[in-house]
Amino acid sequence: MAIILPELPYAYDALEPYIDAETMHLHHDKHHNTYVTNVNAALAKHPEIGENLEKLLADVNSIPADIRQAVINNGGGHLNHALFWELMTAEETAPSAELAADIDATFGSFEDFKAAFTATATTRFGSGWAWLVVNKEGKLEVVSTANQDTPISDGKTPILGLDVWEHAYYVKYRNVRPDYIKAFFSVINWNKVNELYAAAK
Ligand SMILES: [Fe+2]
Repeated sequence: MAIILPELPYAYDALEPYIDAETMHLHHDKHHNTYVTNVNAALAKHPEIGENLEKLLADVNSIPADIRQAVINNGGGHLNHALFWELMTAEETAPSAELAADIDATFGSFEDFKAAFTATATTRFGSGWAWLVVNKEGKLEVVSTANQDTPISDGKTPILGLDVWEHAYYVKYRNVRPDYIKAFFSVINWNKVNELYAAAK
């Protein structure tokens, strides 16, 4: 068995005009596919450790040193992107009553959460991700990771994530990352976020 590239759960143009089809093709078929190819090449060197990336990345020191960084980069790249595709939809969705109440209690209001998430995504220097996670104490938290690092490696469960690598937005939004972040809020699949939130709690 090897790790396989999952198909998008919608058509490449489904998220237009917020996320364009050309970006989705490049992002999924090229970038994500490369992470899959490279993590399989790394894991093939150590068949004894298996292919459970969540488990491996939850304890990166358990990964043999000679493939550790490759698994962090490419295994993280695969997990992050596989989740990212599912976190978007063209359908109208909304946070569950439980999640909405937790967002209000944690951040003050939905708008305050949106501002915190937007600021974190905007100020991530270079390549990385912005996340809404459930932390070890069971609390919501907005965090950022560099490169393809996953919050799982910090003991946190990601329930919403935004890729802010330039490859995620440069075709359509050029250098204007804030416009891309704003657009993302129009295509969030809150049904998936609600499901991940319920599972994490
Ligand atoms: Fe990406």
